[in-house]
Amino acid sequence: MANYQPQRGTYDAYYEDALNIEKIEHTLHEVALTYGYFPIHTPIYESTDLFTRSAGESSDIVTKEMFDFQDKGGRNISLRPEVTAGVMRAVVTNKLYATKDLPLKLQYCGPSFRYERPSAGRYRQFNQFGVEQVGVNNAYEDAETIILGVDALHKIGFNKVILKINSIGDQASRDAYRDALKDYFNDKIDKMCPDCQRRYQVNPLRILDCKVKEDQEFVKDAPKMGDYLNDVSKERFASVLRLLDDNNIEYQLDDTLVRGLDYYSHVVFEFHYISDNGTNLGAIGAGGHYDNLVKEVGGPELSSVGFAFGIERLNSLLKEISPETYAKDELDAYIVYLGVENKDIAFDFAHTLRKNNVKVDLSLQDKSMKASLKIALRKNAKYMIVIGEDEVKNNLYQLKYLINQQQVAMSKEDIVNKLKK
Ligand code: HAM
Repeated sequence: MANYQPQRGTYDAYYEDALNIEKIEHTLHEVALTYGYFPIHTPIYESTDLFTRSAGESSDIVTKEMFDFQDKGGRNISLRPEVTAGVMRAVVTNKLYATKDLPLKLQYCGPSFRYERPSAGRYRQFNQFGVEQVGVNNAYEDAETIILGVDALHKIGFNKVILKINSIGDQASRDAYRDALKDYFNDKIDKMCPDCQRRYQVNPLRILDCKVKEDQEFVKDAPKMGDYLNDVSKERFASVLRLLDDNNIEYQLDDTLVRGLDYYSHVVFEFHYISDNGTNLGAIGAGGHYDNLVKEVGGPELSSVGFAFGIERLNSLLKEISPETYAKDELDAYIVYLGVENKDIAFDFAHTLRKNNVKVDLSLQDKSMKASLKIALRKNAKYMIVIGEDEVKNNLYQLKYLINQQQVAMSKEDIVNKLKK
């Protein structure tokens, strides 16, 4: 018989893990709603061209990590490596910029795919929760997005978030910086890795993101972006930082932060978290401002700002740092009926409780009291309700609090009233 293995870089989540992932996603969704972000759902595959144009031909995501294929109609398709480009495509396809108030505020959650080397917190299929604000025109909107990110991280249980922030300026500043980098790397690039040699031609800024150890020597003395920001870009960045200061958001200026996607301009940022045990999964979220993406995919010129969190990274860090708030697979009550003649009553009792939002389960396979108690404990049930002949006759059921094994006899109505939510 065939024995199928999961694909490299994929995982199955179940029980507590799946529950906690859903809890995180729910909290992020609710926090984004409080900032006025409405959901948008877009396909997980789009034309390859959309991602090549948006993420940029120099990005690792496009050059090395895309899941590309041809469909049966011969179209070049890619599984999305990130969600932003698809959202911008949807904004244009559906003319949201013309039919809804600007800025649009959109939130999403779902899978992305990157053909990366799997490691801790790095998968080939992973989930991103993100927000995009489309049609922005001032620093308040950038700052609000960052504040939302920090706020959301606090609400799911991260209290020591490290926010790294930089500005890569407007196009004019980046052009000046690009020239400076070309000059600087001109006599070094031959000694650097093949990726950097390609980056040198297509987008020298990406050289700063090189992870090859030997190249770091060259990178560390490279010109700094901050020295090439023009006045408009400097002012813009200073305004964002002032707003963060005013709102008590701590940050670390990081002038090597250029991000792995080509579409950014002005402020870029990453959220990091290092556990007390030293676990560091890299960025747990990242984003920035971008000016050309809507236009690039066929719409009008509209500036935007957004970020995305990596759900798996959030989930595995939370499991380590906050086991007490990590979701458990638990029940409010477990019902046991003694004798098959009481099965219908138990069946009905369970449904009455469920209608009152009580999380309740029972085995419908005529289990003994002893076996049921074991199951109830394994399922982390808070209470056990015993339904036997006498209980039915007197409408007085044993409600056993499994934490301390104390039990009281109560009518069905009183039990429902006690447990209902
Ligand atoms: P990104 O930095 O490529 O940005 O990804 C955002 C987050 O997704 C990362 O910080 C990380 O937590 C998570 N992530 C990325 N790759 C993986 C992986 N292989 N396995 C697990 N998690 C991963 C973007 O995708 C931009 N679209 C963010 C954005 C939105 N910028 C503006 N708007």
